[in-house]
Amino acid sequence: MTLARARLGVNIDHVATIRNARGGAHPDPAKAAALAQAAGADGITIHLREDRRHIRDYDLEAVRNAVSLPINLEMATTEEMLVIATNFKPHAACLVPEKREERTTEGGLDVARLHNQVEPFVRRLRDAGSRVSLFIEPSKIQVDTAAAMGAPVVEFHTGKYVELIFAGDKAGAADELKRLQEAAAHGHAKGIEIHVGHGLTYDTVRPVAAIPEVRELNIGHFIMGEALFVGLEAAVKRMRQEIDAARGSGRGLA
Ligand code: PXP
Repeated sequence: MTLARARLGVNIDHVATIRNARGGAHPDPAKAAALAQAAGADGITIHLREDRRHIRDYDLEAVRNAVSLPINLEMATTEEMLVIATNFKPHAACLVPEKREERTTEGGLDVARLHNQVEPFVRRLRDAGSRVSLFIEPSKIQVDTAAAMGAPVVEFHTGKYVELIFAGDKAGAADELKRLQEAAAHGHAKGIEIHVGHGLTYDTVRPVAAIPEVRELNIGHFIMGEALFVGLEAAVKRMRQEIDAARGSGRGLA
């Protein structure tokens, strides 16, 4: 079966992580964005964290100026980020949970519990012209709450699925994949566009990319790690090939 092509959003945060390790300007995330575009990325994802551990404020315009691709800004639900995002007006804004002490985004945003906190962010970002996405766990209640808030897009956190695969827990991974599949079908039926991301690698991306309703995958850390060995262009191309292969060549349905 041939599925609609799925977009690959390349997250370039960790180019900034390496740059910031020494200060200065090298390696430049904007240059990475341009290379990712040349290699076939469909979008550039950046996460401006509260502690600015990787992407910094000045990167936003620099990255946008380096590419013609849509920019997806990941952000916490804080007033500070809302002001930045409504001024920057990215093509897409993805609301994520953020804890200072975490190494990475450890789970989805619990929109069911935080409905009253998150809903105004959805509205204000939408009014500013950004396509709002909620980074959530693949569960019915989270999807239903996202739909009730009028979020046009959800991104399911795939970190647990990837961890179960690497732990050798085949049954657990199969259950988690089923959860992703069911949540994707449920969200799609409610008119929500389905994205996925977090922790995906060449070895884990195919089953997730093969979920018919998935329209976009956002992948960063693994691509940047591979880029150290094979170069960014080759790493992005290979990930693109894995996704296309999972979808039966990527041509077909609109
Ligand atoms: N999607 C979201 C919402 C994220 O927060 C992240 C990590 O910043 C990613 C995708 C990419 O995850 P990874 O870097 O593990 O591929």
